[in-house]
Amino acid sequence: MEKLKIGIVGSKFAAMLHAESYKRCSSVHMHSTAAIDNLEEFADRYQIPNRYSDYREMFEKEDLDLVSVCVPNYLHRDVVIAAAEADKKAIICEKPLATSVEDGQEMVKICRDRQVKFMYAEDWIFAPALIRAKEIIEEGGIGDILYVKAKETHNGSHSVFAQQKKYCGGGSMIHLGIHPIGCLPWLTGQDITHVMGMITEGADKNLLHKHYTGEDWAASLVIFENGMRGFVEGNYITCGGMDDTVEIYGTEGNIHIDLTKGSPLTVYSRSGFEYAIEKADFTHGWTCPAVDEFMSLGYVNEITHFVDCVQQDKQPQMGTRGEDGIKALKVTFAIYESAEKGRLIEVS
Ligand SMILES: NC(=O)c1ccc[n+]([C@@H]2O[C@H](COP(=O)([O-])OP(=O)(O)OC[C@H]3O[C@@H](n4cnc5c(N)ncnc54)[C@H](O)[C@@H]3O)[C@@H](O)[C@H]2O)c1
Repeated sequence: MEKLKIGIVGSKFAAMLHAESYKRCSSVHMHSTAAIDNLEEFADRYQIPNRYSDYREMFEKEDLDLVSVCVPNYLHRDVVIAAAEADKKAIICEKPLATSVEDGQEMVKICRDRQVKFMYAEDWIFAPALIRAKEIIEEGGIGDILYVKAKETHNGSHSVFAQQKKYCGGGSMIHLGIHPIGCLPWLTGQDITHVMGMITEGADKNLLHKHYTGEDWAASLVIFENGMRGFVEGNYITCGGMDDTVEIYGTEGNIHIDLTKGSPLTVYSRSGFEYAIEKADFTHGWTCPAVDEFMSLGYVNEITHFVDCVQQDKQPQMGTRGEDGIKALKVTFAIYESAEKGRLIEVS
């Protein structure tokens, strides 16, 4: 089979996650990349031959089978629409899908009209620990689910774009909380119908990051369509490395999942070493370094699935279709509305 020609828009953190995962797929060729900075370093590191400072020029000149959109949130709409209008076969868009529900709907419509396969990159859905938890739930191992609690938290974004609401659409909920919001309907088989949110409101109102214009702490109680209760959280005030956990409480048992700190490695180091886990400040003393974050957080399985979808002309699985990205945005913006109005909001 001919290798899929991959184009990556973006050259930094998310682009690296995609490139590391494509590296493990024998049936693809990382063919082209476009970015406004870090272009040569990124392209050299992953041996990508064709390099562009303008993604539109890349779409015009290169015949690509699959485009990874790894740019700041506010550009997702323009890049996805440009790729679709240039008749690229398939597109993967990073989370959140867009900075508004309307933009997300437009992206999905244009891709549908032009018959472009459009995939939403919610990596948690491909995390091995969450896949195993879902199997146990489906086997009846914890009975009926009553309550789920999930969060992604760390000490602040590395990306200047994520720190400004005008570029990202919000703060820690749209950036981090969007993972549990996107994952829980897949995990439980239930959509979120109502939310009761609370956030710090950016700048001076933030707990810690006064120069972020979006919130640095956000949480919401949620109600699912069958009445099940939930709690989702995203915050930028957590020291000690990224903290991604899911707790599921059922009538016959419960499951606790730790995606980031559940390492089988425990290290004591007096001198320190290069890297333990994402966003951890140092590696001295006792640490639990990640063994393979690209795998444990789902990126490798995610990219493998999307590549299969293109090669075998399959639909992406539930939770990773463009429509699922819209659903996650609707919940996120309902949480913002709820926080602003101080009352329960129904997700439209
Ligand atoms: N799934 C995940 O776990 C995960 C993790 C991190 C980031 N993300 C998402 O990935 C996206 C990118 O985040 P990041 O952390 O890599 O951001 P970043 O700030 O580290 O990098 C932004 C990238 O976009 C490129 N860029 C900016 N403007 C551009 C333009 N006009 N044309 C072409 N390229 C342009 C820059 O060159 C850079 O490579 C965001 O939507 C973010 O939410 C997802």
